[in-house]
Amino acid sequence: MAELIDGKRISKEIKDELKAEAEKFKAEGREATLAVILVGDDPASAVYVNNKKKACEYIGIRSLSYELPKETTEEELLALIDKLNNDDSVNGILVQLPVPDHIDENKIIRSISPSKDVDGFHPLNVGALLIGEKGFVSCTPAGVIQLLKRSNVDIEGKECVVVGRSNIVGKPMGVLLLRENGTVTIAHSRTKDLKTICKRADILVVAVGKPKMINAEYVKEGAVVIDVGIHRMDNGKLCGDVDFDSVEPIVSKITPVPGGVGPMTIAMLMDNCISSLR
Ligand code: GUN
Repeated sequence: MAELIDGKRISKEIKDELKAEAEKFKAEGREATLAVILVGDDPASAVYVNNKKKACEYIGIRSLSYELPKETTEEELLALIDKLNNDDSVNGILVQLPVPDHIDENKIIRSISPSKDVDGFHPLNVGALLIGEKGFVSCTPAGVIQLLKRSNVDIEGKECVVVGRSNIVGKPMGVLLLRENGTVTIAHSRTKDLKTICKRADILVVAVGKPKMINAEYVKEGAVVIDVGIHRMDNGKLCGDVDFDSVEPIVSKITPVPGGVGPMTIAMLMDNCISSLR
């Protein structure tokens, strides 16, 4: 039986560390402030934004909330970001994605000052990660590294396979594993013989966005499996990109869905907010 990597517990541990750190900064008269911008009324986005605000409250980060109507123009949104970029009391700016179709997402990402880009999506922060310089790191892959480290999984020298090459997860995940001295393969939808590649992995990180795609045929005995996917099935239950019941009996450690990677994303967002005070 595999050991479950408990993202709920580990994210709580990180949030409690950050809370203590925030209190120390507060005693010095310093406080982090996160501005969260939501455009439109997508219910899932509203839930995410609310969870981010609640996490801020728990840790002691001031949060400013901007809930804008879906008709908001790109110019109006850019003007708000510009105002927040120039406001010294604001440390972090987050625009919840997706934005409505009439707004250019790439333009919005590039308009946020890299020094306040707590999502780590700005090309300058992505580039800094690639060349090993300081900068904000995308929260979900940063959370996966914490899950591995805090579960005593050694990355150095290991065969690491990432399935998925998105800008937000797959690519930065590969770079972070490389930074930890893993031997990294980034596989994707055009990869030939994906099963053989995945079966090589000591550490397999799956972020493909396809429910239960990775079954026991893709996994080496004793591997560590991290499942970034989250999907709602017809029966209302959640599942990941990994077929948990098929894979769990043969691996050494695995993240559940829910309660694995999911809670880590917000914890690492909070870490990015506090890190601007460090
Ligand atoms: N939408 C879904 N995930 C994210 C995220 O990590 N950051 C932002 N800004 N929007 C999202």
